[in-house]
Amino acid sequence: MHFKIDHPLLKQKLTVLRDKNTETKDFRALASEITMLIAYEALKNIELEDITVETPLTEFKGKQLKNDVIIVPILRAGVGMLEGILNLVPEAKVGFIGIYRDPETKKPVTYYEKMPENCKNPVTFIIDPMLATGGSIIATIDILKKKKFNNIKVISIISSPEGLDAIEKVHNDIEIYTGNIDDHLDERKYIIPGLGDAGDRLFGTK
Ligand code: PRP
Ligand code: URA
Repeated sequence: MHFKIDHPLLKQKLTVLRDKNTETKDFRALASEITMLIAYEALKNIELEDITVETPLTEFKGKQLKNDVIIVPILRAGVGMLEGILNLVPEAKVGFIGIYRDPETKKPVTYYEKMPENCKNPVTFIIDPMLATGGSIIATIDILKKKKFNNIKVISIISSPEGLDAIEKVHNDIEIYTGNIDDHLDERKYIIPGLGDAGDRLFGTK
């Protein structure tokens, strides 16, 4: 199941993010702001439990997060979304999955895995700005499910229709929240119109 987030600020910020003249430092700030807007919606159904606190005047029956929230950026570009979501859920634990797309085959290659231990009923958010063929997200979900992280949601900034289909074919229990569903993938499996290579634009590597 996927959800395209609709908000005027998201449309405006995505336009600047896509612009090839947007420089690294602005690109990074925008990626964080956009992540906050999408994550706000993705966190909407997070479970709460009762807690009682003392105000300076009396007792207050309030709410706290019921379960551990785990954020999993896919290295590298997912790191560009980490600060944004941690602004909303600073108590979250963070796991890392390192994956790159093989430049020839376009298939995901996993090179690093480090997930938090001893989690209480974890709800896990995979973050990656680009959901292109969907291969990197599918590989990440496979790894997480093997490690018993079964309640998984995905947050991407831009998705392709092909990638969403591919994920939903193999993992139809996952919710995907995205800032936009673009037109198509080109022959190099880049998202069109997209924004180019998210990792390079975030980290100034090209
Ligand atoms: C990009 C992007 C995703 C992946 C999307 O990473 O950040 O992880 O490609 O493509 P897919 O949906 O077809 O798998 P990249 O391989 O460029 O690695 P990087 O983040 O280290 O630059
Ligand atoms: N990875 C990116 O960074 N951009 C794309 O368009 C596709 C994969």
